[in-house]
Amino acid sequence: MEKITITGGQPLQGAIPCSGSKNAALALLPAALLCTGETVLENVPHIGDTSTMEQLLSALGVRAQLLPSRDMFVDATRIETYDAPYELVKKMRASFCVAGPLLARLGRTRVPLPGGCDIGARSVDYHIKGMEALGAQVRIEHGYVEAQARRLRGANILLDTPSVGATCHILTMACLAEGKTVIQNAAEEPEVADLAAYLNAMGAVVRGAGTGTLEVEGVETMRGTRYRVIPDRMEVGTFAIAAAATLGDVRIVGCIPEHVTALLLKLREAGIAVDEGPDWIRVSAQAHPRPVSVKTLPYPGFPTDMQQPITSLLTICSGTSIITETIYERRFKHVDELRQMGADIKQEGQSAIINGVFRLTGARVAASDLRAGAALLIAGLMAHGTTEITGVEHIERGYEGIAAKFTQLGATVGCFDE
Ligand code: EPZ
Repeated sequence: MEKITITGGQPLQGAIPCSGSKNAALALLPAALLCTGETVLENVPHIGDTSTMEQLLSALGVRAQLLPSRDMFVDATRIETYDAPYELVKKMRASFCVAGPLLARLGRTRVPLPGGCDIGARSVDYHIKGMEALGAQVRIEHGYVEAQARRLRGANILLDTPSVGATCHILTMACLAEGKTVIQNAAEEPEVADLAAYLNAMGAVVRGAGTGTLEVEGVETMRGTRYRVIPDRMEVGTFAIAAAATLGDVRIVGCIPEHVTALLLKLREAGIAVDEGPDWIRVSAQAHPRPVSVKTLPYPGFPTDMQQPITSLLTICSGTSIITETIYERRFKHVDELRQMGADIKQEGQSAIINGVFRLTGARVAASDLRAGAALLIAGLMAHGTTEITGVEHIERGYEGIAAKFTQLGATVGCFDE
């Protein structure tokens, strides 16, 4: 298994381009099953999760290929099976979202209950309620969700919480349903808006993208199209935090600053200099951050996916910071590892209380999930001495060429096979 070593203590300096959004690509690719003809998605990152999705689409008998240029071709004119393979769906929660498009296209689907990062319960009950509301007969047996419907029909659906995955999944099904669907308390994340724009480009009629109420007028068929995936706001956030944490000066280019507003406001509150232009952000810091409170919330609140990375930054704050996680119940596994690097963090229920220390020191640590991995990379860049990170497969699921990108910014990062 691979490991990453980092010799920390160097300020990150320079400019870095950002990759296409993992979470947008993972929402758009299952939606490509809705149409006949060829879809080309541009700016799809080369990461573990998009490779898993490519394998999953291929396993359904669909033509799917991610090229080195980051164009991904999908042609679902013919879909050979409604049965999604266990080994692939267990690897990644987003795989479950092929169920709805298969149901809408083929009238039937059989998909295992999903796996993914181990950060909390992560049920799919809203997804299943959505299928039922749209008229499908659903049963769960032997760990599989099986659903059938001759044709889905539009409905009014209220989500108990604004789940990103359930909003995207229901949206895709509603496009080919008969009549109108309204999704209330829908997720407002940019990835949902990106999906809606892509669906409309394929001939769907979706209104209200980016708001809490989505309206969909069902259509009979949808056609393939060419569409560019938005930049990855979590990668942008990771570089912004790493720049601040190493007292560096980094310009992140090719991004949408508006998508990271909550994080940038928090960094400014912590005394970090942030400049922004139409498609770039510059983050620089000369001193340790001031203490701040962070509470994770659905968009446009502070994103849970940046909770773990910002914890690393705040380990050297000049006082006490409090981080409260409200989305997932087990997203604090990075805390023990950061303690090994000298951080002073107490976990109390869903909060982490961080007393700032002068500096972190390098240690052997293990990434338990994707963003815990990002937190440890940032901690390694900040720390005095060498940090060795295992569990790199989690990091590779979601960050494209991250070691090379940090190296480009002047860090000393190596990747090794154990
Ligand atoms: C998406 O996951 C992202 N993943 C996650 O990114 C992100 O953490 C999350 O949204 C929240 O922003 C992708 O887009 C592929 P949810 P998703 O449905 O859609 C509960 C990362 O690091 N819930 O909004 O799975 C659920 O348990 C990752 O890139 C139900 O109870 O998240 C969670 O507590 C990991 N029942 C909350 O809602 C359901 O049916 C939010 O989950 C669905 C969700």
